Amino acid sequence: MAKTVTLTVDGKSYELPLVEGTEGERAIDIANLRRDTGLITLDPGFANTGSCQSSITFMDGERGILRYRGIPVEQLAEHSTFVETSYLLINGELPERTQLNRFSVMLNDHSLVHEDMRSFFENFPRRAHPMGILSSMVSALRAFYPELPERTEEEEINITFARLLSKVRTMAAMSYKISLGHKVVYPRHDLSYCANFLNMMFDSPVRPYRIDEDLVRALNAFWILHADHEQNCSTAAVRLVGSAKVNLYAAISAGICALWGPLHGGANQSVVEMLQRIYDSGGDPTPFIARAKDREDPFRLMGFGHRVYKTYDPRARILEKMVNNVLKKLQRHDPLLDIAKRLEEVAMKDSYFIDHHLYPNLDFYSGILLRALGIPLNMFTVMFAIGRLPGWISQWKESLDDPNWKLHRPRQIYTGPKCRDYITMDKR
Ligand code: ACO
Repeated sequence: MAKTVTLTVDGKSYELPLVEGTEGERAIDIANLRRDTGLITLDPGFANTGSCQSSITFMDGERGILRYRGIPVEQLAEHSTFVETSYLLINGELPERTQLNRFSVMLNDHSLVHEDMRSFFENFPRRAHPMGILSSMVSALRAFYPELPERTEEEEINITFARLLSKVRTMAAMSYKISLGHKVVYPRHDLSYCANFLNMMFDSPVRPYRIDEDLVRALNAFWILHADHEQNCSTAAVRLVGSAKVNLYAAISAGICALWGPLHGGANQSVVEMLQRIYDSGGDPTPFIARAKDREDPFRLMGFGHRVYKTYDPRARILEKMVNNVLKKLQRHDPLLDIAKRLEEVAMKDSYFIDHHLYPNLDFYSGILLRALGIPLNMFTVMFAIGRLPGWISQWKESLDDPNWKLHRPRQIYTGPKCRDYITMDKR
């Protein structure tokens, strides 16, 4: 098969290298295009641009495939834990028992948050969105945990990974408790990562929290399914900000800000708000579907559609199954689940959604699962952020090790006025 493609510009031909991935996807390498031809490429939203080569996550949007380091997410969600999957993403291989134990001990060792940071939480307005608080707090971590000259770069990086994975979880639970005016619950070394989080969120001096292993299992699977998704908006933000060689806390903070948006991670909150509106209006989803189809109306069906998946998001299928299992286990009925199923059923028979390849995405069922676990609505995107941390970290690490890495600096086609003279105020 040809290893180059020929581009003809103004009658002159140029050979451009073809790059091929391990799963057969191909790209035209245009790195020298401007140098050789004076041309750049234009690709709004980067929908057709590969920004890097990566060996972390493979997804096939046409066939609904998602694998971390080659392993299907379905298998990881069923058999792995979030800590083990984080290790896999960051280090490239599943850990042996001693490696996993060492990693877990390290996470435990770094689970506490500097006591002086508590005053930060206490001074945010009570109604502040937790994603804004989280991005500020993660950025502030650098001030509390500066680089130490006696550590090697590798030690520093590994400690920073552990701090982020462990402390972000503690900070999320802490901010929730403080927002309620409740006593902060500290992490416990005898609990697993996910059990610890649930305990920090829901334990109280007057009503001890009873850890349910089925809910712990569900939370593990929830976070595994969120752990990476190749070059999505927030990961691209982490890589872009990281390319300026800022510290990792600052790069992750940028990722958290990108994730906050309702077109990205913020969609899990928007989906539940939309389902609640449908419920409040009597439960019939058809008027909402009609609005989503109306080109004059900016309304979209939240939790539907994806830049890459043109079929059912594999994560949505797993989450739907998990929601059913968790609600059954809790012997609870959530009317929003009935509405979600009805909405999906109607949309999936509608030619607009079929023709536009709009299927439920990760966020469609995830909020209903979080409700079942007792997570409040404004914390939903924070839950996504905790899950996406190992992905951001591994993508940042990969970029650091890439010998071809460059500062991210796209170009543009300028469409503004041509050169003109400054006009003094009295002559305007
Ligand atoms: N409801 C109705 N129509 C939609 C929807 C939707 N949810 N999503 C896309 N469309 C339509 C658009 O109106 C457009 O129609 P047109 O071609 O007739 O004008 C067409 O589908 C393509 O839409 P784009 O916005 O160009 O597609 P893009 O790939 O940029 O969008 C996105 C992807 C942002 C996820 C979009 O589908 C959307 O807004 N979905 C709702 C928000 C959401 O669920 N976000 C979570 C994504 S998953 C994640 O980040 C974890």
